[in-house]
Amino acid sequence: MTRIFSGVKPTGHLTLGNYLGAVRRWAEDDQYRAEALFCVVDLHALTMEHDPARVRRLSRQAATLLLAAGLDPERCTVFVQSHVDEHARLSYLMECTATDGEMRRMIQYKEKSAQAKASGDGVRLSLLTYPALMAADILAYSADEVPVGEDQTQHVELTRDLAVRFNQRYGHTFVVPKATEPVVAARVMDLQDPTSKMGKSHASGAGIVYLLDEPGVVHKKVMRAVTDSGREVVHDRAASPGVANLLEVLGACTGQEPGALAGTYTSYGVLKKDAADAVVELLRPVQERHAALVADPGHVEEVLRRGAGRARAMARPTVDAAYRAVGLLEP
Ligand code: TYM
Repeated sequence: MTRIFSGVKPTGHLTLGNYLGAVRRWAEDDQYRAEALFCVVDLHALTMEHDPARVRRLSRQAATLLLAAGLDPERCTVFVQSHVDEHARLSYLMECTATDGEMRRMIQYKEKSAQAKASGDGVRLSLLTYPALMAADILAYSADEVPVGEDQTQHVELTRDLAVRFNQRYGHTFVVPKATEPVVAARVMDLQDPTSKMGKSHASGAGIVYLLDEPGVVHKKVMRAVTDSGREVVHDRAASPGVANLLEVLGACTGQEPGALAGTYTSYGVLKKDAADAVVELLRPVQERHAALVADPGHVEEVLRRGAGRARAMARPTVDAAYRAVGLLEP
């Protein structure tokens, strides 16, 4: 059976980008057709300046939102990364497989290290080695597929390279995974700056729709989205990035093709209104289930506890095999 692994990092409130690029597919498709694991990757939240209380809060909220989005713990495994030691154990072997040059080439490292320097913080070593931990997350579970948004495909490519290299050097140990992207909305852009990704850790939230934003707030943010100076509604990411983004969001929400949708609009205003309505309707059931789950925190904790137990049992044999393969003595 196909094995799927993916994760979300608790560095901010989950966004519409996270939902359309990744989480919605996990809930609507992946968990039904494969043996799937979905993880709140909290160790990854420590690679930049962080507030411990906030990471704790956001981890709990992310797990609750994954369940609210429809992940069914009877069908898939939902857990928190730091509850399963195998991730950190295997990460070290990945650091021994990857090269310094490979890590420095990662776009996310370049962007985030520049950000850390600009705000006067040192660049944490873990920011550089982040892709080794991400590779460990995936390889520990012998995942075949990794459903992610476009921004994470470079990391999955690196994971493939590391798996192949490790297998060649030490004998077949890891499944070589591949990234899967959504057909539409693989890269949802910031509504205020449609040339950059809608990211949960941006300082200003004006261009970011959060999953827990109230309908009025969603409306305001979408209606104020930056569009282009032209008047024609076309789906052209290079020439009209703001309009293209709205068309993709609307298309992803309603299951229509953005190019075809463009032909049905003659004004930006109507497009914005329809996109805002569609996002509100998309988020409504998630928000309702979230409210119910928040009222029962014991349930979420129990799901995570059971999930970690299952995940540990799955990861352990592969990580042990990798330890033996590189020459470490059996304890
Ligand atoms: P993270 O937490 O930044 O994002 C979680 C998922 O959401 C996708 N995503 C987007 N998709 C479309 N448009 C956007 N604007 C947008 N923003 C985010 C991301 O591509 C991702 O699929 N390194 C990962 C977390 C991770 C992981 C893993 C993922 C750690 N280990 C192993 C898969 C497998 C990250 O920072 O995702």
